[in-house]
Amino acid sequence: MIERSKRPVFGLDGTIYWMFFGAVFVASLVLIALGSTGFVAIAVVSGGGFFGFLISSTVGKQYVIRQIIDKSALVGTDVALDIGCGGGQVLLEVASHIDAGISVGVDIWRRRDQFPNGSAYLIDNYKRSQIRNKIAVACANAVSLPFASSSFDLVTSNLVLHNIKGAENKFIALSEMVRVLKPDGRLVLADVGLSRKYIFVLKTLGLSNRKHSWTVPLFFAPFGLIVAERPA
Ligand SMILES: C[S@@+](CC[C@H](N)C(=O)[O-])C[C@H]1O[C@@H](n2cnc3c(N)ncnc32)[C@H](O)[C@@H]1O
Repeated sequence: MIERSKRPVFGLDGTIYWMFFGAVFVASLVLIALGSTGFVAIAVVSGGGFFGFLISSTVGKQYVIRQIIDKSALVGTDVALDIGCGGGQVLLEVASHIDAGISVGVDIWRRRDQFPNGSAYLIDNYKRSQIRNKIAVACANAVSLPFASSSFDLVTSNLVLHNIKGAENKFIALSEMVRVLKPDGRLVLADVGLSRKYIFVLKTLGLSNRKHSWTVPLFFAPFGLIVAERPA
């Protein structure tokens, strides 16, 4: 049994939202304790917001990540890339299925998207995990991946596309994901608001076997999952 303190610690997503709801919740509890009963409604709403983000970032995300792994059809020799890997939750889960291949993660590690966040924090999580399969991490933007075309058997990305602002940048990021996929490679995307319209974008980028499904709602929004393949 791993000591609790030695397990990976994954950050919470949507930093400004959970910090805002948390601060308002604590402040309203203090005011209620001091006799201002008018703050009860604010405490209920902000508490709901805070715990909604907390549950989405922990139990909810863990559920989605299990679905990502199920849909990834991983084999031990896969060379996999996780885009926007943050603290490494998907990256390490993928790595645990790969023995002869490698699990690569890229991110620009923005703390406003996940907190804590950073490459050192990811490496610390790797050391805390019992996974000793190969991983590699690099600081890179999803819109300009530093990899040769046709490099990866699997590309995953969880909760990242919504952070890339503008339809054009989102399109460039998707094009980059497709570019680095090997023929027969698999793409598995999950995100808030990831609707069927992305299926049409991936069709224009040449992917086949495109499937969209809605999973559990997280962060007070519908949460979509897309699986597609690059034809041989
Ligand atoms: C909500 S977190 C999700 C992290 C991770 N995928 C997970 O499931 O725990 C979003 C991550 O996307 C990263 N990110 C945002 N925009 C990015 C971009 N243009 N290129 C690469 N990473 C990006 C953020 O730094 C952050 O680590």
